[in-house]
Amino acid sequence: MGRVIAIANQKGGVGKTTTAINLASCIADKNKSVLAIDMDPQGNMTSGFGIDKNELENTTYDLLVDDEFQVEDCIIKNLFKQLSILPANRNLAGAEIELLTEKDMQQILRNKLEDVIDDYDFIIIDCPPALGILTVNAMTAADTVIVPIQCEFFALDGLTQLIYTIGLIQKSLNPDLTIEGVVFTMYDARTNLSLQVVENVKDCLDQNIYKTIIPRNVKLAEAPSHGLPINFYAPKSSGAESYNQLADEVINNSEVSYDG
Ligand SMILES: Nc1ncnc2c1ncn2[C@@H]1O[C@H](COP(=O)(O)OP(=O)(O)OP(=O)(O)O)[C@@H](O)[C@H]1O
Ligand SMILES: [Mg+2]
Repeated sequence: MGRVIAIANQKGGVGKTTTAINLASCIADKNKSVLAIDMDPQGNMTSGFGIDKNELENTTYDLLVDDEFQVEDCIIKNLFKQLSILPANRNLAGAEIELLTEKDMQQILRNKLEDVIDDYDFIIIDCPPALGILTVNAMTAADTVIVPIQCEFFALDGLTQLIYTIGLIQKSLNPDLTIEGVVFTMYDARTNLSLQVVENVKDCLDQNIYKTIIPRNVKLAEAPSHGLPINFYAPKSSGAESYNQLADEVINNSEVSYDG
């Protein structure tokens, strides 16, 4: 059964999508079958994989709001090696409101994923910068959450609320949900600030922290405009190296927790 991982932080611009795209692609590179799900109306993950978000017929929006749609109807298969994509575009913004009247609106994604969960080793979900119904659907479907934290002064802002929300979902919708870990992003070795943030978060946050720290790397910023994950765009870059390491950590974690 596939391990479902939501990449979430309601703070904007912390590296959720960059992490979702490149982690999914680097895991797929290691001979795992991966489904990447775009749950953000901005559709950044979709375009980062080189998909024209305005030309899409079926998206996560259709999957969530229409009973008739199944995951298989919306997937773009094997786009990069064993990586398939469930794309999104701005239509998804409408789902926030349309779902309000749906019964079990928090559990739609989880229910729909049941059919395909055995087809994948990993399902990676990119969440929007909000704790609304889309993120709640992602966390309800997920086994674990990875929280990207940008190495900047306000890094810890909002984390209490995020951890509180995850706690609420554990209590009501998904008792098995855990925070898999936090990953530092956009680390700049030239500044003391990055180092201070890492130290500060380690001291203040009682969570698993990935050994891999994602550096600020211009190739990571450029790759989406070429529609390529980092392991295809610049496989020798520090960005590719770090997301490959993170992929190893995530795969190892999943093996440890399956065994235990
Ligand atoms: N390690 C990195 N090095 C350089 N640039 C990066 C890195 N990580 C992310 N970026 C850039 O920072 C910006 C924000 O990153 P990203 O889109 O991944 O954040 P996000 O959390 O998904 O944002 P949002 O909350 O809007 O969804 C993007 O322009 C991205 O290319
Ligand atoms: Mg994003």
